[in-house]
Amino acid sequence: TVLQGDFYTAVDPQTVAYHAQALIVIDQSGMIERIIESTDADYQTSRQAAQIKDQLVEVPKGQVILPGFIDLHLHAPQWPQAGLALDKPLANWLNDYTFPLEAKYRDLAYAKQVYPDLVQNLLANGTTTVLFFGTIHNPANLVLAQACMDHGLRALIGRVAMDNPEQTPDYYRDASSQVALQATEDFIQQLTALGQGQALAPIPVITPRFVPSCTPTTLQGLGKLAAQYDLPIQSHLSESDWEHHYAIEHYGHHDANVLDHFGLLTDRAVMAHATQLTLTDEQLVADRHTAIAHCPISNAYFGNGTLATRRLMDRGIKLGLGSDISGGYSVSLYDNLRQAVTVSQMRTDGVTNQDQGEADARISIRNAFYLATVGGGQSLHLPIGQIAPGFQADLQLVQERPLAPSDPIERLERLLYQTQSNHIQAVMVNGDFVKV
Ligand code: GUN
Ligand code: FE
Repeated sequence: TVLQGDFYTAVDPQTVAYHAQALIVIDQSGMIERIIESTDADYQTSRQAAQIKDQLVEVPKGQVILPGFIDLHLHAPQWPQAGLALDKPLANWLNDYTFPLEAKYRDLAYAKQVYPDLVQNLLANGTTTVLFFGTIHNPANLVLAQACMDHGLRALIGRVAMDNPEQTPDYYRDASSQVALQATEDFIQQLTALGQGQALAPIPVITPRFVPSCTPTTLQGLGKLAAQYDLPIQSHLSESDWEHHYAIEHYGHHDANVLDHFGLLTDRAVMAHATQLTLTDEQLVADRHTAIAHCPISNAYFGNGTLATRRLMDRGIKLGLGSDISGGYSVSLYDNLRQAVTVSQMRTDGVTNQDQGEADARISIRNAFYLATVGGGQSLHLPIGQIAPGFQADLQLVQERPLAPSDPIERLERLLYQTQSNHIQAVMVNGDFVKV
């Protein structure tokens, strides 16, 4: 396929490149092979050659091409409660709403009802890759994996481990550390078998729910499995005061140190929230090359604070965006990138009457676009999030609003603020258009 149209791709946290009427040449495997600029000598001949072979797709005027968005933190089983009980403290929300809901996925029929709907909603909002938390139930997690392959969503999926009897309910817990570790290893094998020979085979992820919900034996075993199978890791890190104090009381350390001690703070790890990190914790995260999933909507409800997004970006810490369904209520990364900008304003001294000690914590919508695309790809170590040779053709075609500014970058800014899911005209994953 050869796409012809106007596209944007983030180059670095400050810079977005605009390409007018370029040709995006996509190979058989779904990879972007070449970008041909309208000023290149072979533009016309390449365009005509593609047209003759019936491979040319001309993106209509008024639509722009963006990289598909990458969601670094989403609890698939929580989709049915997106928007519920957001006025509760985290511990109550988990115990009274979230754990009872997640327990329902022992019933496969329920998983089959929810997961395809979630996957279709993600694609319809321009999200093309997701790092998912599942539940403790492997059959249901495999339903999620199948739904991703059926609908064409790139996915990484974790079987949640949670075996601490003090912090998990009897009806939703791994019966022992041995069960948690065995079921994790089973899931790695089952998912690998399911994805055999598939272009979009989901990647298994080691997933301790968070420090309070796991026993030390389980955390240690999961660290070993991550090393043994060379897998990505995901968890929650320093999300709330409560979680923060739990780690200090039980381990005498911050949860970043606890995860690190067990081999879970690696350069393949993606840690959600991180609103309570101290500067020393941040240094540890930087030293380990661990990525942070910024979940700006969720943090407003459960994060007990805001993320130091500007500072983390300036320190070169890997950072992407997460919807955190259902700590966050919106599956749209457009909503989340807008919220990321909004909360960064609130952190900045002088904007509110509660100074946080940061003269300028602001990020721009271009910075947020970088996080939703390039930042996500770097965090996952996958060739995604950019429209450039060597990257997967994961794209979204977005209809502009009327009255678009003529300056290309202003045009992108307005588009990012105005886009709703009904403006997303088409989505491509791995070189194939998917149904939206
Ligand atoms: N901490 C432990 N589990 C969860 C969860 O499901 N959502 C959020 N936001 N925080 C958590
Ligand atoms: Fe979460």
